[in-house]
Amino acid sequence: MQTGLRTKLLKAFSTADGEFLSGQKISETIGCSRTAVWKHIEELRKEGYELEAVRRLGYRIKKKPDKISNNEIHLGLKTQMMGRTIHFEETVTSTQKIAQSLANDGVQEGTIVVADQQTNGRGRMSRAWYSPSGTGIWMSMIIRPNIPVNTTPQLTLLTAVAIVQAIEELTPLKPDIKWPNDIMINGKKVVGILTELQAEADQVHSVIIGTGINVNQKIEDFPEDLQNIATSILIETGTSWERAQLIQTILLRFESLYSLFLSKGFKPIKLLWESYAISLNKVLIARTLKGTVEGIAIGIDDDGALLIETCEKKIEKIYSADIEL
Ligand code: BTN
Repeated sequence: MQTGLRTKLLKAFSTADGEFLSGQKISETIGCSRTAVWKHIEELRKEGYELEAVRRLGYRIKKKPDKISNNEIHLGLKTQMMGRTIHFEETVTSTQKIAQSLANDGVQEGTIVVADQQTNGRGRMSRAWYSPSGTGIWMSMIIRPNIPVNTTPQLTLLTAVAIVQAIEELTPLKPDIKWPNDIMINGKKVVGILTELQAEADQVHSVIIGTGINVNQKIEDFPEDLQNIATSILIETGTSWERAQLIQTILLRFESLYSLFLSKGFKPIKLLWESYAISLNKVLIARTLKGTVEGIAIGIDDDGALLIETCEKKIEKIYSADIEL
């Protein structure tokens, strides 16, 4: 099928939002004959789209294949700013790397970089992030907030809230957040967030927020060393999910929280974050690069740091650590 017609057809279905579209309407909208419409519908079926055809009503899309591309993300995206420019590639080393160079080139705020696969995905604390093809969301978002440099960790917490809200909106799952930015389901990690900064001492140029979301992996798809600690939305729900739709929902949630953050500050975001946090009011061990701190997590401060009260009643501020609950 010609790419232009395919895009027009998918756009028509996306605008119909799950309602039926008659063959006549489709042929007028995309500018081809009814027979050509039928052929295009068959092509979409071959590509994995589940299309329902009902006499007198027409066609509607029941399920899309889990494919991500520029088009799949763009069609149906309801944001004003987030994801309005999309850089999609099948395979990259790391979306963070590409986003950094795009940010240096001055791309507009809200630009996203998405890949189907990363060959050198990066996690926190210089770890690798396993990013195989066809299963996850490997995405970096570029934003340019006019905020003090020391408050940028708040954006990581904001992103975690946006992703939890999006997962809750689309699936029956109720994920938790483990400080600082791991999203967990049934004690296993389903999402990781890596925030990187381009800034001078007193000015933020750009913030690059990388999100790795395990969507459609089966347990055996993970390397053995991850099978006990990682999970995916498919593993937890028993069914596969459309990654493009999840990306659209995350971008919309992020945009709304980001605008709340810019107008009202961190307070409302902090309250939301705390409502999802599993690490608060519990005894935990924080393993930092400088050593181990044990105590009760009593909250987070405005830097996004975790506050731990030790048994000597001393309050320790933790900026980066692995948390053991
Ligand atoms: C973590 O260690 O928990 C953070 C993982 C972040 C992974 C994402 S995947 C998209 C983006 N590109 C990368 O190389 N890393 C981030």
